[in-house]
Amino acid sequence: MSEDTKFPYDFIGEILITAEEIEEQVSDIAAQISEDYRDSDKLLLLGLLRGSVVFITDLMRKIQRPLTIDFMSVSSYVGAESTGFIRIDSDHKTNISGWDVILIDDIVDTGYTIQYVRRLLLDRNPKSLRVCALLDKVDRHEVEIPIDYVGFRIPDYFVVGYGLDIDEKGRNLPYVASVDLEKYVSDS
Ligand code: IMP
Ligand code: MG
Repeated sequence: MSEDTKFPYDFIGEILITAEEIEEQVSDIAAQISEDYRDSDKLLLLGLLRGSVVFITDLMRKIQRPLTIDFMSVSSYVGAESTGFIRIDSDHKTNISGWDVILIDDIVDTGYTIQYVRRLLLDRNPKSLRVCALLDKVDRHEVEIPIDYVGFRIPDYFVVGYGLDIDEKGRNLPYVASVDLEKYVSDS
């Protein structure tokens, strides 16, 4: 790697959302959730692995309510293309019956993932269920889903950073950046 490499990955296009902007927005969402769930004593943040990890760990520390966290792992993507196929790789451990659940994801693209997981969770009788996503690619939605808390609405770029990846790379970037798909060389 040359001394003057600007980014730790050579496929970064541009920084779309800075770490400071993310922090401010996460604080706002946390304040809203703290307010909305002020009467709840069974609040569960349910994150989708692995993309939501950075978001959920920042968000949870800013929420001024008692809460617990749990995770599910679902996969729907290979590289930058949606396969339109959602698979549960590992399920959450909490019995969510009677819990106020907030489903947390990194990004809503077509909406199929959230639609699928939402329906699955509703069958498990939570007291309430809301959806929270850091990023929302509004122009890409193929299904209508309610997103109750959104960090940023972004155009149709493939992005990495703050937990988001391309083929598992880029999650550790503290900002959200576009991927220059011409510079990106896939491993597969
Ligand atoms: P959806 O089912 O099409 O809404 O896809 C949602 C999932 O696709 C997210 O949870 C991400 O894991 C992944 N995804 C969609 N767009 C991007 C992106 O721009 N960067 C990284 N992952 C993405
Ligand atoms: Mg994901």
